[in-house]
Amino acid sequence: MDISTAGELWDATPGWLNTASYGLPPRHAYEELQTVLDQWRHGSSDWKPWDASVARSRAAFARMVGARPADVSVSSTVSQIMSVVATALRPGARVVVPEIEFTSNLFPWAVAAEVVTVPAERLAEAIRPGTDAVAFSLVQSATGSLTPLKEVVEAARAHDALVIADASQACGWLPVDVEGLDALACAAYKWLMAPRGAAFGYLSPRLRERMRPLAANWYAGADEGGSYYGPPLRLAEDARAFDLSPAWFSFVGAAPAIELLNELGVERIREHNVGLANRFRAGLGLEPSGSAIVSVDAPGERLEAAGIRAAVRAGRVRASFHVYTTTDDVDRAVEALTQGSPRR
Ligand SMILES: Cc1ncc(COP(=O)(O)O)c(C=O)c1O
Repeated sequence: MDISTAGELWDATPGWLNTASYGLPPRHAYEELQTVLDQWRHGSSDWKPWDASVARSRAAFARMVGARPADVSVSSTVSQIMSVVATALRPGARVVVPEIEFTSNLFPWAVAAEVVTVPAERLAEAIRPGTDAVAFSLVQSATGSLTPLKEVVEAARAHDALVIADASQACGWLPVDVEGLDALACAAYKWLMAPRGAAFGYLSPRLRERMRPLAANWYAGADEGGSYYGPPLRLAEDARAFDLSPAWFSFVGAAPAIELLNELGVERIREHNVGLANRFRAGLGLEPSGSAIVSVDAPGERLEAAGIRAAVRAGRVRASFHVYTTTDDVDRAVEALTQGSPRR
């Protein structure tokens, strides 16, 4: 399907420029979820068919990031994944994190280790002898800036530091590959367009050897589908050992949405999204960039008045553009921001 017509698969009310906050479900994902909610309401189905969505989601996510499904754990939040990854660190470990990092990928390190924060653009050079890990977002949620992954991975390799990435603002529009990473956590309710409550964690085999399964539970058990009662502790051999028992309905919405993204092709989605972001930037007199998220000093209240929904914080507008965003959405936003006032 052509990306320019893929928007037909959604029911977005025009003016949604806030996927960096949450993404909108494709129609068939929403409908699958409604079917399941109806089953739940009436008690007309066992939960096992709902649970099949977890395996589907895990496989689709693994495919998206070039991982084996056996190296992907399922969870509900990024902070939970990072908190368990933190068990791989030695006491007193030093973790380098960008100053601007979203706190779900900062607080877990502050609890477990010593954190050194640095300007995002100096991340690679801040990795030095004695650095145990570097943790960062592939795309920063506040600014939309992309981390220069190659440099960071090379610096981390040189000092034997773990590389821990948050892909919540990347997966779904930016091609992502787990090559060179130890952990990659992703919340699925933004660019993967799932209901909140589904998250994925790629955990490399070498990292897993050092991790403790702090949230061990029946779903992470060796028996596929559940280790229900009694000792001994018997966890899966692969990344499933770190699974949380799943928020079923979130995964019911996640599976069809992630499968659709794979089908449409993330590289094509990137071109579409960045093209729209750059159309928005050009309208405001800004140079193009390579991101689907634009953060700009602009009178955000005018967007609200025009019915455009973007994130407006402390005098800055954060607008984000996904597969269902249209040129009309962009042009309306530019018009609202520029009409009757000199560009700023
Ligand atoms: C980069 C990033 N990571 C994670 C999250 C969400 O974290 P959690 O899943 O812990 O709620 C967000 C939400 O805005 C985010 O922007």
